[in-house]
Amino acid sequence: MSVVIVVGAQWGDEGKGKVVDLFTERADVVVRYGGGANAGHTLVIEGKKLVTHLVPSGVLHPGKACVLGDGMVIDPHALLDEIAECQARGLLQQNELLIGLGAHVILPYHKLVDGLREDHGAKRGRAIGTTRRGIGPAYEMKAARRGIRVRDLLRPERLAALVASNLDDLAPVIQHLGGTAPSAQEIQGWITDALTAGEKLRKYTGDAGRHVDNAIKRGQHVLFEGAQGCLLDLDHGTYPYVTSSSTIAAGACQSAGIGPTMIDAVVGITKAYATRVGEGPFPTELHGEAGDKLRIAGGEFGATTGRPRRCGWLDLPALRMGVRLSGMKSLALTKLDVLCGMPEIQVCVAYKLDGKELDEPPTDPEDLARATPIYARQPGWGALPSDARDVSDLPAPARAYVETIERMAGVPFCLISVGPDRTETIRLHDPFV
Ligand code: IMP
Repeated sequence: MSVVIVVGAQWGDEGKGKVVDLFTERADVVVRYGGGANAGHTLVIEGKKLVTHLVPSGVLHPGKACVLGDGMVIDPHALLDEIAECQARGLLQQNELLIGLGAHVILPYHKLVDGLREDHGAKRGRAIGTTRRGIGPAYEMKAARRGIRVRDLLRPERLAALVASNLDDLAPVIQHLGGTAPSAQEIQGWITDALTAGEKLRKYTGDAGRHVDNAIKRGQHVLFEGAQGCLLDLDHGTYPYVTSSSTIAAGACQSAGIGPTMIDAVVGITKAYATRVGEGPFPTELHGEAGDKLRIAGGEFGATTGRPRRCGWLDLPALRMGVRLSGMKSLALTKLDVLCGMPEIQVCVAYKLDGKELDEPPTDPEDLARATPIYARQPGWGALPSDARDVSDLPAPARAYVETIERMAGVPFCLISVGPDRTETIRLHDPFV
């Protein structure tokens, strides 16, 4: 058996969906471990797109258990829509889904507060650029021990009391932020809708932690699917421009309630370049035409919000930090094909700050914003063979680029993606042993 964590090595949107889908061929159980509908995994199967926000990307493999861990924050209405969409595509027909009863719930007022805070912050130059999916407010309530969990959706009286108490706390906040405090009728509507959603979800709910632990003890292959990326981690990312959960590999253990000794491998996913959505420092960002070109070539528009992603050169100090934070033992490289046709590729190998060279991003956000990237320049390549099955099938400049990343990140690649389809992949090493 083996237990593998797949984690984004950058600021999210690394193409984890495709990699998780490929690794799921060997997995018995796939567990989503953090965040909520802020994530968007775009899956392309035989040319058709499916975007999942909450359901693990492993959903494309009928019969494999798909678990939503207790560390998640789940919008029950968004989840029901997604289940319906998957079922309409012939997926999730075999009772594959298990939603942790301990996961927290996002209700309309969490989203309302998220949006109001962003608007309020934007006027004062303090916006985070969140996805406005209610993620921050739901995790805040959880930490304040006033959160609502999936189990509460199944207890009408408890749910009504919790919602009332939440809104007692939040009504003044909503008003302070320029919103209108919800009416009693509106609140009742939210409770009724949440209870209806809870009833529809009831059959999928259970003890996710025990289920995962039992699967590991039975010797099954378990795959943990990270959302977002290491640099958006609440504790270790580019705070405050981060999400509100533990996106690093340790978050998998915390969410599922299993110990770190259970984990056999951590695979990081990195794109061949860098992107970031929302605010926050991004030293290798390309502005103007160069950034636009990369955005269009890579289709870099948010799968959740449709926002254009900020694009730039690959940042190796940031990648090294991701490798360290998650203890990655190998990497998967995605979207190498997007760089095809560029006359020259640049890659940030270090930063310069106050006359010193740094091999990892400075931890203070103002220092990071001031740091200057030091670039290495490499020749580009024309096209990649979509049937490449080994690094030796790549043109020499692409091979050199791959080798530079490997050398400077300090860990080998286990997979290189040369196109969006499942088949367009160089598979070097299987993380499941
Ligand atoms: P939140 O998670 O919606 O609170 O957003 C906080 C920050 O994380 C914002 O900069 C978002 O753009 C970013 N973020 C959240 N989820 C994702 C994701 O799945 N991909 C990329 N960025 C994300």
